[in-house]
Amino acid sequence: MPKKPARPPEKPVAELTIDEATAEHGPLAAELAEHDRRYHQLDAPTISDAAYDALRRRFVAIEELYPDLKAPGGESDKVGAAPSEKFAKIRHRVPMLSLNNAFSDQDVEDFVKSVRRFLGLAAEAPLTFTAEPKIDGLSCSLRYERGELVAAATRGDGSVGEDVTVNVRTMARRAGGVPLKLKGDAPEVCEIRGEIYLGHADFAEVNARQRALGEREFANPRNAAAGSLRQLDPTITASRPLRFFAYSWGEMSALPADTQNGVVAAFGAWGLPTNPLSTRCASVAEMLAFYRRIEAERASLGYDIDGVVYKVDRLDLQQRLGFVSRAPRWATAHKFPAERAVTVLQDIEIQVGRTGALTPVAKLKPVTVGGVVVSNATLHNEDFIKGIGGDGQPIRDGIDLRIGDTVTVQRAGDVIPQVVNVILEKRPPDAAAYVFPTVCPACGNPALREPGEAVRRCTGEFACPNQVVEHLRHFVSRRAFDIEGLGEKQIEFFFNDPDLPVRAPADIFTLAKRDAANLKKLKDKEGFGETSVRNLFAAIEARRTIPLERFIFALGVRHVGETTATILARAYGSWKDFEAACLAIAGGDEAAREDMDSHDQIGETVVDAVAKYFGADHNRALVDALTKELTILDAEKPQTESPVAGKTVVFTGSLERMTRDEAKAMAERLGAKVSGSVSKKTDIVVAGPGAGSKLAKAAEFGVQVMDEDAWLTLVAGA
Ligand code: IVH
Repeated sequence: MPKKPARPPEKPVAELTIDEATAEHGPLAAELAEHDRRYHQLDAPTISDAAYDALRRRFVAIEELYPDLKAPGGESDKVGAAPSEKFAKIRHRVPMLSLNNAFSDQDVEDFVKSVRRFLGLAAEAPLTFTAEPKIDGLSCSLRYERGELVAAATRGDGSVGEDVTVNVRTMARRAGGVPLKLKGDAPEVCEIRGEIYLGHADFAEVNARQRALGEREFANPRNAAAGSLRQLDPTITASRPLRFFAYSWGEMSALPADTQNGVVAAFGAWGLPTNPLSTRCASVAEMLAFYRRIEAERASLGYDIDGVVYKVDRLDLQQRLGFVSRAPRWATAHKFPAERAVTVLQDIEIQVGRTGALTPVAKLKPVTVGGVVVSNATLHNEDFIKGIGGDGQPIRDGIDLRIGDTVTVQRAGDVIPQVVNVILEKRPPDAAAYVFPTVCPACGNPALREPGEAVRRCTGEFACPNQVVEHLRHFVSRRAFDIEGLGEKQIEFFFNDPDLPVRAPADIFTLAKRDAANLKKLKDKEGFGETSVRNLFAAIEARRTIPLERFIFALGVRHVGETTATILARAYGSWKDFEAACLAIAGGDEAAREDMDSHDQIGETVVDAVAKYFGADHNRALVDALTKELTILDAEKPQTESPVAGKTVVFTGSLERMTRDEAKAMAERLGAKVSGSVSKKTDIVVAGPGAGSKLAKAAEFGVQVMDEDAWLTLVAGA
């Protein structure tokens, strides 16, 4: 333990002369700061709480006696240790996923049916679900090793979260908080996941304190919880009564039970707070009854929930069901209906998106919906304004929306607020029908609506500044290049800047060439100091190396979202192979087209979009300029240890031991590519009874054929 700094014998503060007080003040401030750091950041205090309090009292008393000593922002203004620059990142060893949503009883029934279908379970076969309140907080992953809390991370983008260990540690002493040590015989490694939240009473208190301090109040308990946890100064977190419910897990060296319910019960036994309302349901009727009961009790629970989560209880079934993209097949969130409010539609603004889509946005008289002030809502497209739904059928009884109308708006969770209804009786007599623009408000080029499409699009493409800016925004967005310090605002700034224009993605990287000229030009501009310019350039430099899937997603090809980009990246492995395939498709190569189409979840729409994108000269120029600046990392290799890794497999005929979907999902998990048709590239055809033409094709190409049992033997243990 380090030696305590030597301190002169203490005189009562009231007897200190100005010189004595001045001499003591500085060292005392430094000493307090060091104790704060040891306590909050190193978790290794060297003095007792009482001794610390005595020091701090003396310090405050000195400043009260000689207020001139007090420095603004000095030690006495701080609640604790100096904040670190920013949060470090933690890579989740098991991704933190989100949930699919159900909004109606029918959706829940469909969810259960899809689970049964996937598993090949008859309607009468028993199948148990857990039903749990869906806590409206923020998810957090707590890592315990040998029973001790060693790390805590926010969800982040699901793969990488922020290191909030120091902050979470401050939640330890409170009931309903997070234990620093697990009780009982918890396995060596336990990654416990759950929700951090703020109760209603605590939320009111936090806001009262904010008010008293003249600080901004939080809109709702979830924002307050997030704001309290993501604090660079952990003593602020410590002063907010955050709580935790454990409901899920990441890496576990051993599982304490073979059901969802059993594992969560074990969490409870290890001292983690778990939700007492969670239960098990044996039928859709029981699930819906639970939902109704929780909905009725919602207001009196003392914390915010926004629905109910159903999970398949048996873990072996969860394992078989697996995941699609970012959500498990074995769980769904049954959301409560959105909250609504009435307000006035003051204007309709047309936004031009990345793909040229003209999207009308309602400018509303600000109104509070479920605790959040709403002043914008999406109006989707021109049909929506006219009172026509996506299926061509009337919505709102076919009533159109007019500027000046009184409307009902709703908001559900993070979803963009929606205008759901018009109160026709309140329509001003002079309100005129809205005329949707037929030219782009940004560039003046014609905006056309293709037959059968609801969306009107600007035809300006690269001549339309809005499309270019939106394209750049997408390029730097969180799931794409994610360049720190280069957000929507900065993109717009650089786009319009005459000295350092960023008009295409490659410009971002030429901008960051740290030549003195660029640095100087930029730091002379308003809002950019030398440090911020250096930081920005460093952040750009850090992204010169990028994983293939992110790169493909960042290009912003229509219909190629994150999931599709990942599938394509894994399918082609490297940028070189992917680009070659795209160029071949754009050039009309049928075999290349078929090959892309053969990948699971990739269809005509994507292939057409890729062909169109790579067929356009300006896109090719953009990609060429960009790839010169970058190193694109090959895609994460699929599992290579399994005997079917890298093989192309076709399932045909009926399978008896598992459903087609399950077989496909299993093969993919093991690194195989599942194709719908047999070609010379096929490695294995798994044929069940009733297999027909594909079997003949397999013979023609000399492809290995096996039955379901042989397949299961082949992959057993992989
Ligand atoms: S399970 C793989 N259970 O809801 C399963 N999530 O909308 C992961 N949430 O990100 C989640 N209560 O932050 C689960 N009882 C509960 C939950 C819950 C709240 C949150 C969680 C998740 C989000 C998805």
